[in-house]
Amino acid sequence: MERFALRYGSTVVYMGEGALSGLQRHLGAHRRILIVKGRRSAEESGALNDALEVVQRLGISAETYSGISPNPTDSMVDGIVEAVRAHGAEAILAIGGGSVIDSAKFAAVIACSGGRADDYLLGGRTPSCDMPVYAVNLTHGTGSEIDRYSVANVEGKGLKIGLETTYPRASADDPRYLRSLPADQTIYTGLDALYHALESSTSTETNRMTQTLAREAVELIARWLPAALRSPGDLEARGNLLYAAAVAGIAIDNSVTHIVHLLEHVLSGINPRLPHGAGLAMLGPRCIRYTYAARPIEGALVMRALDPGLEPIPEHAGRAEEALRRFQESLGFDEGLSDYGFSEGELEGLRARAMEILRGETGLVPFEVTEEIVGDIISSAFRGRGDRADGSRAIRMRAGPATGRRGIISIVLLNFGYIMSSHLTTPEATASSSLGMRRSTALMVAFVTSHTDL
Ligand SMILES: [Fe+2]
Repeated sequence: MERFALRYGSTVVYMGEGALSGLQRHLGAHRRILIVKGRRSAEESGALNDALEVVQRLGISAETYSGISPNPTDSMVDGIVEAVRAHGAEAILAIGGGSVIDSAKFAAVIACSGGRADDYLLGGRTPSCDMPVYAVNLTHGTGSEIDRYSVANVEGKGLKIGLETTYPRASADDPRYLRSLPADQTIYTGLDALYHALESSTSTETNRMTQTLAREAVELIARWLPAALRSPGDLEARGNLLYAAAVAGIAIDNSVTHIVHLLEHVLSGINPRLPHGAGLAMLGPRCIRYTYAARPIEGALVMRALDPGLEPIPEHAGRAEEALRRFQESLGFDEGLSDYGFSEGELEGLRARAMEILRGETGLVPFEVTEEIVGDIISSAFRGRGDRADGSRAIRMRAGPATGRRGIISIVLLNFGYIMSSHLTTPEATASSSLGMRRSTALMVAFVTSHTDL
């Protein structure tokens, strides 16, 4: 894939092999920086080594902060801020997936504006300024390298909160760093980007530019996600997926997401162990059936890469659902909610919980969200583990349904989520949305899932 720089607002994303070199002149403006990373992907991908070489060559004093894990918490973000101050850093370089980049962007705001993470997450404080933050992106899904959102968990409260923080000044999307991305994360993040495209192009805030970007993203993902799974080291595939995720990120920055993300956030709020992309893929096909029926022109425009026979008519809504389900199965995705400790016996409770959280939050959805539809969508997400419509077995992506001890833990977590949520449903929580759901509010409280860090 060719090298180029993609400019969006105040962000520039350097694309292609050697993209880190594009960050050099930005980093060169600083004497002291803090590198923020997760548990292992920065090392395994080779990105950390390359970044340290650049930093050394530029004579920059760098400290590394490794305290970020998936579903980062308020205290992790505060930890970054403390590390920034301890080192006297003038800028932050995030190396990782969405969790790392989100946390770094949040810390960049706090380090300049003052306070602690909870002041922003719970106290309604809004950022007044930020310090420069840069990103080396290690997944092709979230769009955090090019958008202005962060999400963080509030420790001990069972809440995940999304808020507007800041855009990275510059990011690097180097496909070589994604060669080590595991197959399941390749699927989850690729499908996250796919649903960003499908939802932004059909939301009530969609526009022509969003639809153009979304169509491009869907075409690229349909072509290159299978290729990346067949050959994880295929740089052309990884590069195209990085580009698709970035343009889908711009699409949600403009036209947000709707029903798939809304419902996924409800479920992963109850059980944080549910990976964001997996939850989307479970709920997505049935959600798209309703979406397509309401927005067949936009639906056909973006989904023809998955089924060229789709016509822009509501009668093709079922066909759109099947096209999506078939695509996901062709990737090897066969998970259902029962794999994460949810039981079909809890369907009524899940539906009621979803309706409670979604109340007043469905303005971006292009159809009326009724209790019956929500129940149908959640029910459809229990498919999986090879439960295909034709009775045949789908490819099993990975072993390990939630049985035995793991299953018990999941059920405990699930019930804990219900208990916590019943105590934590505040006007802010119910009136809020999650990442990408609401553009105008500085504080968005929701049960949202975090980006994936590896
Ligand atoms: Fe997402």
